[in-house]
Formats: sequence, structure tokens, C-alpha cells
Amino acid sequence: MITRLEETSPGSAVVMITGYPSIERATEAMKRGAMDYVAKPFTPDEIIKAVDEAIQRKEGEERKVIERFGALTKTGKISLPSIDEKMLQTLSAAIDERRQMEAKPSLEALSEPERLEEMTLAVLNKYARDTNNLIPILQAIHSYAGYLSYETIGLIARELKISEHEIFGTASFYAQFKFEKPGQHLIRCCTGTACFVGGGGVILEAVESKLDIVPGQTTKDGMFSLERVACLGCCALAPVVTIDGEVYGQMSPAKLSRAIDKIYRTESVKSD
Ligand code: FES
Repeated sequence: MITRLEETSPGSAVVMITGYPSIERATEAMKRGAMDYVAKPFTPDEIIKAVDEAIQRKEGEERKVIERFGALTKTGKISLPSIDEKMLQTLSAAIDERRQMEAKPSLEALSEPERLEEMTLAVLNKYARDTNNLIPILQAIHSYAGYLSYETIGLIARELKISEHEIFGTASFYAQFKFEKPGQHLIRCCTGTACFVGGGGVILEAVESKLDIVPGQTTKDGMFSLERVACLGCCALAPVVTIDGEVYGQMSPAKLSRAIDKIYRTESVKSD
């Protein structure tokens, strides 16, 4: 009976009722997944109490699983499959082709919000505007823009006729999705065991204080984003920091400060 219920109504909270109570039967029922075991005769209050408690226990178990899953995704232990970058290039080329036929400026010539809107609509069409495809839709747009802006979330919500809250709830479940525009340069400070022992924590504090941001934030001028990571895979060089993917080993607060200043100087020369 319990096995059949699991097939037809998975996740149900089961309370077993029997007219022939015995320890063996109770043990067997619990082993098969029953939350409680009630022997006849019983009063209405008794069965209501048994059902209420079974539901509460079931919900508690489910909550724990969800929290565990959430913790895994937040720590990056569960990640989403990567998105096909070629698909984005194909969509971008198709948008340009259409705009050319309509005698409109190319995607590249548009402002960032306009460009993002065009690409978001193209991605939505690509995924048939199906809410079951919400995650790949968000992944594709995130991959294109580097983040999910509130405007983009609003546009997706309107087009898919779902709430922004629902989209934000889904996206915030995964550590990969960012909601703030990334800086031009990404600094990743390792505070894994080897790096921490070598002074990784001090380096992180130094960069936080120099740039006035904490991990997960971007400087007001949009120049740097900061991330803290658990290991960059080159512990022998500890303490390690990467800037735009380039590995800096045996890092010190002074070396990192110089590297940041150098980037600022280079960027200011470019903009002159
Ligand atoms: S702990 Fe920092 S690179 Fe491994």
C-alpha cells in the first residue's frame, strides 16, 4: 500500500491505520515510510492529531533537504551546466541581420540597456517563452551580460507572465547568478587553508580596505569586483590572488596594492 502511494502520490505523509496492531506491523510500516501508525479504535481527535503531526514532520524533512540543497548550490558544490556560447553568437548575428534589414543600427551601436533588451527577447524566443526553461533563459542572459539586472528580470517576468519575485527566487538559489554589474576587472582572493595560513585573510582585508568593497561587491567606479574563493588550485604559490584570471602567487598586501594602482593607471591612459 505504502509503495503504491509513493508511486501515485510521491512525497505524501502517510499515517497507517490498522485493526490488527502489533509491534512487527508497526515497525514494518515505519520502515516503508509511514510517519505514524494508529490502531483502531481511535477518536476523531486522535486521528486528526496523528495526521497533523505527520504533515509537520514531512514538511520539516522537506525543508531540511531544501536547505541542504540551497547550501550546496551557494557554496558552488552543485553547479548548473554551462551554456552554449555559440548559441549567443548565433542569436546576436540574427539580431544584427534583422536590424540591418530594418535599417536600424547594429546591436553593438545600441546603448547597454537597449542591447540587453534585444538579447533578452531573442533568448526568450529561442526558449519558446516557456517557464520550464527559466533557468537556461537566465543562464543565457547572464552569460551575455555578466549579470541579471533588475530591468532584465522585470522584462522576463512581463514576457513570461510570472512574478519578478519568482525569477529572483529561482536565480538567487544558485551562486553563479550575480545581480550587480561586474566591474571591468575581477580580483579573486583565495582564503583556502594553504592561502589563509600564508596570510590570505590579511590580503583580503587589505584589498577590501583599499577598494572599499567586500566580496561580492563592485567598486563605485565600476572598475573592480571582488570575490573570495576557497582554492584556486595552485596552493604551492600561496597566498594566491587572481586578477582577470592571471595568477599572482606569494601575494602580499603591498604587491596587490601596486597591481591595483597599475590597472588604474593603465585605464586612465586608455581613457585619455
Ligand atoms: S588554498 Fe589557495 S590556492 Fe589552494
